[in-house]
Amino acid sequence: MDRLVIEGGVRLKGEVSVSGSKNSVLPIMAATLLTDYPCIIKGAPNLRDVTTMIRILRSLGKNVEFEKGIITVSAGSRMNFVADYKLVSTMRASFCVLGPLLAKLKKAKVSLPGGCIIGVRPVDLHLKGIKSLGADISIESGYVLAKASRLRGNRMYLGGIYGSSVLATANVMMAASLADGKTIIESAACEPEVTDLAEFLLKMGAKIKGHGTPIIEIEGVRHLRGAEHSIIPDRIETGTLMLAAMITKGDIIIRNAFYQHLGALIDKLYEAGAHTTKSDGSIRVRPKGRLKPVNVTTLPYPGFPTDMQAQIMSLMTVTPGISVITEKIYPDRFMHVAELNRMGAHIQREGPHAIVEGVKSLSGAPVMASDLRASASLILAGLIAKGTTSVSRIYHLDRGYENLELKLQKLGAKIWREKE
Ligand code: UD1
Repeated sequence: MDRLVIEGGVRLKGEVSVSGSKNSVLPIMAATLLTDYPCIIKGAPNLRDVTTMIRILRSLGKNVEFEKGIITVSAGSRMNFVADYKLVSTMRASFCVLGPLLAKLKKAKVSLPGGCIIGVRPVDLHLKGIKSLGADISIESGYVLAKASRLRGNRMYLGGIYGSSVLATANVMMAASLADGKTIIESAACEPEVTDLAEFLLKMGAKIKGHGTPIIEIEGVRHLRGAEHSIIPDRIETGTLMLAAMITKGDIIIRNAFYQHLGALIDKLYEAGAHTTKSDGSIRVRPKGRLKPVNVTTLPYPGFPTDMQAQIMSLMTVTPGISVITEKIYPDRFMHVAELNRMGAHIQREGPHAIVEGVKSLSGAPVMASDLRASASLILAGLIAKGTTSVSRIYHLDRGYENLELKLQKLGAKIWREKE
């Protein structure tokens, strides 16, 4: 196992380019199951989750190549309808092979993904949507078995107690693309990654309207063809780099960044004292004057992303005053609080709220990453802490950030990888 070691205190400066979006590429890879024709996905990040999805697609009978950011998927000799527990349990996003497998093969057996450190993550909305399309669903020995001789379009409401679901919307949108007739998804997720998937499906010949809004209409077609698509930049990596600039009082230019996907974060950063400017696919970030505390509530897009909650908390730990961070998507997603407190932060958790009292400085410490975004928050804290921080269990980071330490090094950070 690797760990990252950081010597804090360097103001980041320079330019860096963002990789393709993890949350976009994974469902798009799953969508290649809907066709026998070759698909080409460009700008794919080299991540552990992408490797896992490649293994899943291969296990389902696809030929998959991945070189220099280009994933090529083509038909193998025979497709398999079973997605194995060993693969699905390591990554929840793999559950979105259910919809395309069922639509293509008329049956699918996909392992339930199981729990995860950021809290209970059910799949009821996925199953509700797939059932609405006329599938028979049963659960046997930890697997979801779905069957339908023909899927039929339907109108459905996919909102849950925490709002819309990104991957449930993706799963149903993919299945409905090959169903008979029209499907209307109400309370659909509006995340840019859902829109990117819809764009890919449109290129495959699907008939989709309303993606990017809470009501998506899909007119099923008989067949889908192969397609070529470039993945959108990762907005969470972009946001993490913006916070790296802010926490170190640096001045950086982030290339390959979509300003329009980051409205809620940019608004909060402005309130906190950031100066952000956009030009031609890049964003420049630097603080203007003293940092100010901000209250943040995570919400489905276009609200503040839960995937940025841990990172903005790191910034608030060194911002004078009190800020309240409320988690409305995963109320238990606070594993980073205890680790940040080990570095000298003053954070108190009360249910879905974290109350952060800014301190003058953090001190480097050995800390442990508990999940993907928590690892990013600990690295941000390490960049500003006095002394040396070592973040262990960095395999969480490798699931979703492509070469983050190299990007930070390019900006001047003293950060390196060691074997534990
Ligand atoms: C996706 C993202 C993840 C992000 C999350 C929320 C991918 C690969 N992952 O995950 O990075 O943190 O969106 O923006 O895109 N829920 C239910 N029932 C369901 C499904 C979800 O109750 O069937 C709940 C979840 O527990 C959570 C909320 O709905 O409280 C939103 O989850 P969801 O949008 O589904 O997250 P994912 O799509 O799994």
